[in-house]
Amino acid sequence: MNLAKELLLPCGARLANRLAKSAMSENMSPSHHGPTSTLIHAYERWAQGGVGLSITGNVMIDRRAMGEPGNVIVDDKRDHEMLQQWASVVKHSPLHIWPQLNHPGRQALAAINKEVVAPSAVATKVKGMSALFKKPRALTEPEIFDLIDRFGRTARILKQAGFTGVQIHGAHGYLVSQFLSPLVNHRKDQWGGSLENRARFVLEVYRNIRAQVGADYPVGIKINSADFQRGGFTEEESMEVVKLLGAEGMDLIEISGGTYERPAMIGAVKKKSTQEREAYFLDYVKKVRRQVSNPLMLTGGFRTVATMERALADGELDVVGLARPFTLHPDLANRIFEGSLQRLDIPTPKTGIKALDTSGFVDTMWHEIHIRRLGEGKIPDPKLSAYSVIGHNLSATMKKLLNGFPFMKGAKKRGY
Ligand SMILES: Cc1cc2nc3c(=O)[nH]c(=O)nc-3n(C[C@H](O)[C@H](O)[C@H](O)COP(=O)(O)O)c2cc1C
Repeated sequence: MNLAKELLLPCGARLANRLAKSAMSENMSPSHHGPTSTLIHAYERWAQGGVGLSITGNVMIDRRAMGEPGNVIVDDKRDHEMLQQWASVVKHSPLHIWPQLNHPGRQALAAINKEVVAPSAVATKVKGMSALFKKPRALTEPEIFDLIDRFGRTARILKQAGFTGVQIHGAHGYLVSQFLSPLVNHRKDQWGGSLENRARFVLEVYRNIRAQVGADYPVGIKINSADFQRGGFTEEESMEVVKLLGAEGMDLIEISGGTYERPAMIGAVKKKSTQEREAYFLDYVKKVRRQVSNPLMLTGGFRTVATMERALADGELDVVGLARPFTLHPDLANRIFEGSLQRLDIPTPKTGIKALDTSGFVDTMWHEIHIRRLGEGKIPDPKLSAYSVIGHNLSATMKKLLNGFPFMKGAKKRGY
């Protein structure tokens, strides 16, 4: 079976098999922003399930900039012991765990950030939810250099804690992808304008991380095949950036797509040609395969073992990324390898309110609740309704209000 085969990465490390759990923000650390035992337990369950590579939910590289209230932040060594415990879920095994490094840029909730920064002062506009986001301030050049260095520093701290690699979050409209997008990046200096300039940030982030972790440590990236927005980062531009990253020696290039404004990553924006197909960005990956020899991972929509096997057999990609199926089937890798699982059926919870259902918000929350259930040692509840998700979210917000929103108080102190 192709999925069970080992993969040698350019840095010399090996993945034990071709299945990866793609990043899912766990949102479980509201007050102190360090890993919790519930969070670590969810990763224990995934490691016990045999997946070759677990990529964590996005870890913030800067305490002053948070995407969501419960993000883990790693910008110093204050949580070293808990990070060690988190990394140890793969200790004494050939499995990997890579934290995903992120800075939200303008896709940062106003309630939890004193100030929001981005390449340019262009606000996030999500239908019916734009008020949740603050208009960002354009970064100064010294701040850009500082952020590049912070990506590298966070990677070094995580390596020291025992994580076996890192992934840069270069997709979904966060800071790295904002630099790439002409729709969001209006800079007139060396960080904006031509594609060469817009790609400078991601290349410098990669180089800084590489310098801080060494040549033999896995460094990957998740990048958009396109933003699916008129005037945004296109497929042709993405292909050029992937070539540049490939030439730098990137160990694993994960392909996804979309932003908060166009959530293609969870299937909310599908081109006609991909409607009947499971994997959302397969057409793009086939083209990239002809351009780069670095290992490629594709995430988004894979649901049958037959499709995953075919994509690997045809040489279109090297690693199959799955996210939502892992919240219901934490042991899916072992079950696929032993032949007892062929289809990954997962529900798409719907409220019937179009704006809410197409925003991806309920779907994402539904799976977040399931990650927590995994961490609490509970069994998944595939029948959990969209309305229970909203109820759960409201009650969690009420609890935070009663506790005085500890993360908001922190945000006021933090600031740029
Ligand atoms: C609850 C949830 C949280 C997510 N958080 C992240 C994240 O932190 N970083 C990221 O790159 N993608 C994130 N994603 C997107 C997934 O990694 C993946 O690209 C998407 O769900 C499509 O894959 P799937 O069809 O196998 O679920 C998240 C998805 C869900 C459902």
